[in-house]
Amino acid sequence: MSEDRGRWGSRTGFILAATGSAVGLGNIWGFPTQVGQGGGAAFVLVYLVAVLFICAPILLGEIVVGRYSQLGPMGAVRRLAPTGPWWLIGILAVSAGTFILSFYSVIAGWTVQYLWLAVTGGLESGPEASGALFTELAGQSWRNIFATGLFLAVTAWCVNRGIKRGIEAAARIMMPVLFVLLMILAVRAVTLPGAGEGLAYYLRPDLSQLRDPGILGAAVGQAFFSLSLGMGALITYGSYLHRSHKIRSAAMAIVGIDTLIALLAGFIIFPAGFSIAGFDPATGGPGLIFAVLPQLFATLPGGLIFGAAFFLLLSVAAFTSTISLLEVPVSHAIDQWRWSRRKAAATVGLFCFVVSIPCALSFGGGPAALADLPVIGGSFFDLMVNVWNEWALPIGGLLISLFVGWRWGVAHAGKELRREGPGFPSPKLWGVLIRFVSPAALVFLILLRIAS
Ligand code: PHE
Repeated sequence: MSEDRGRWGSRTGFILAATGSAVGLGNIWGFPTQVGQGGGAAFVLVYLVAVLFICAPILLGEIVVGRYSQLGPMGAVRRLAPTGPWWLIGILAVSAGTFILSFYSVIAGWTVQYLWLAVTGGLESGPEASGALFTELAGQSWRNIFATGLFLAVTAWCVNRGIKRGIEAAARIMMPVLFVLLMILAVRAVTLPGAGEGLAYYLRPDLSQLRDPGILGAAVGQAFFSLSLGMGALITYGSYLHRSHKIRSAAMAIVGIDTLIALLAGFIIFPAGFSIAGFDPATGGPGLIFAVLPQLFATLPGGLIFGAAFFLLLSVAAFTSTISLLEVPVSHAIDQWRWSRRKAAATVGLFCFVVSIPCALSFGGGPAALADLPVIGGSFFDLMVNVWNEWALPIGGLLISLFVGWRWGVAHAGKELRREGPGFPSPKLWGVLIRFVSPAALVFLILLRIAS
């Protein structure tokens, strides 16, 4: 095995790093946005079902493939299934990691700029100005390119330090910080005046909403992104485990913590949102956290500290996710092309930076065509989100579930799980879910996307 491949220092290190990958902007921003657009508590219910029955089995499937093969997605499928179109999983993984990182880091760059503004008093401008502040900030060109590049550079630096000294070490510091910040913010938010209305919206389901099949599609899509599934991030992280490390309980922990953190984020956003006059929970997109919440920070006594903590939380969450996005193509270059880790981190990081430039300029800071693409419509940024989040991840997830369930097969995968002794989920239950339930749900989701 090449020197540059590396290994986790411990199973806890793996759990922290994988949870760090999962917990990101998807939890703190994406989840509340989807809850707002999907009609509140009913969405939360469907989300929990999607996580447990559709996504958790794939998560365990990815880790089992990684631990067994000791290789990233491309190496793993080539070894376990040398014939057939399964190498597509490898191609999708490397490209999804690279391109998702390219737009994800633009938003990460905004979070850092907001953190800076909160610390330096720049959010004090008053409630009416918050929306205008966001439009102005997102429309800047050089500043956003710089912030995105900085975020990518720090990510590449950390990935270059390797699995144990870089990725695991970062997760060991960042995850506790994230959790503490989250708790402080949730306590502050639920004690705001007017918080009750937000809590009711978040917790009292309107079951008539469940008739809309779109909710299931949205919930599966959100759960997929939130758990970092469909692009081999967990195959890659699993490949740095020792064959003797147990993964069933680790998978449960990752799923549990990711879901808990998404739910906690709702306890921050909704009470905080509803405490602002005229708040509409269906405000999706960047507006929700970048334009709405700063209104609160600007008016609340001590709000700037609250604001700084919130944007620090977002930056930290984004950072442990960008690390995993970069690690997928980097490990591919190390395994498949025999590159050194340093060369891989620098080259892929630079490539992502180049692609991130048009993403950063999609909000008015660049040529008008980037903000509104000819023919396709929408901005370059929207196009990237659409192709990679909405199509590549579900297709990748479908291929992975078919690969594990049918091609490599639950007989082999189950044998690998049984080596750990008895535990939950039983290989049998898991086998049924990954063979039938997960692929069926993903086909449904893909058909729904084709139809819309
Ligand atoms: N799960 C991360 C989030 O919730 C995003 C991500 C997706 C990270 C895919 C890695 C791979 O923000």
